[in-house]
Amino acid sequence: MTTIKDVAHHAEVSVATVSRVINRNGYVNEDTRKKVEAAVEELNYKPNSVARSLFKKQSKTIGIIVPDITNPYFPELVRGVEDYLIKKGFTTILCNSDEDPEKERLYLDVMKQKYVDGVIIVSNMAEREFIDECDIPMVALDRNVHQEMPAFVIDNRDGGRVATEHLFDVGCKRVAHIKGPDQVINSEERYEGYIEVVNGRDWFQDSFVVSGNFEQKQAAQVTKQLLNKHPEIDGIFAGNDAMAVGVLKAAESLNLKVPEDLAIIGFDGIDLTEMTSPELTTLSQPIYQMSRDAAKALITLIEGKTIKQKENLFPLQLLKRQSTKR
Ligand code: RIB
Repeated sequence: MTTIKDVAHHAEVSVATVSRVINRNGYVNEDTRKKVEAAVEELNYKPNSVARSLFKKQSKTIGIIVPDITNPYFPELVRGVEDYLIKKGFTTILCNSDEDPEKERLYLDVMKQKYVDGVIIVSNMAEREFIDECDIPMVALDRNVHQEMPAFVIDNRDGGRVATEHLFDVGCKRVAHIKGPDQVINSEERYEGYIEVVNGRDWFQDSFVVSGNFEQKQAAQVTKQLLNKHPEIDGIFAGNDAMAVGVLKAAESLNLKVPEDLAIIGFDGIDLTEMTSPELTTLSQPIYQMSRDAAKALITLIEGKTIKQKENLFPLQLLKRQSTKR
């Protein structure tokens, strides 16, 4: 592989001169510049990106930290980020935090050491002090991190309320909620939206709320237990679409017809909800647009500009499909 020394020898200049030409820093006279550029071309020299990162303290890479790429919401989210960044000449490093603050801190430390130019983070556990110490341009996606960090989010509580009201609107009488992970603010806010609607109804008990942890299989298991305990339930709001798929599976295993015996609504609007039978009604997030706009904002920060609007709220859309068509 051609090295910077080969280029210097070929152009009959010093390595330092070649470095100045390649990194466009410091004075080089026009003739010398042309000689070096000709040598780079003839030898097909590709600057070592790690060396360039060390020299320029930038790597043209962006880190994105999400909780769990196996949850089908996050690949759609990452796609919006990566499609925008690659057009701007940045590559993306993807990390799974598993909602673990220690893992988040580890990844942020490594990104700093690799001179990552900016980070997009999905987290509600990152400590402000640690984030500030990172001193890397950063944008929050899907969840707020702190009030000074630009965030691209939706209104989870309002979404929870709309989802629950929809079930009553289609004639459900007893509505339960499959909640996401307790430590995730989005789960809590969607649950609050559900409680806002069911609070005070004479049939409501705390046992109408169970945790599905944002996962399909666990949601199927806890839904079966819930429906065996409360066969009167005729509507379920699942805190995300992955859990709504699990609820569908539980209904099938109990020979319940959807939506006739049990209406189901999810949250996210991932493509999978169009593939189930029946198709799932859901509160759809503008996942691609929200993540693309977060990536755009991060480039703005990397260019040294400021972003005045910190919280950027995106609209939810109620997609009415077969699983609630009663
Ligand atoms: O499905 C994964 C969930 O985690 C989504 O609802 C998204 O909001 C993220 O917080």
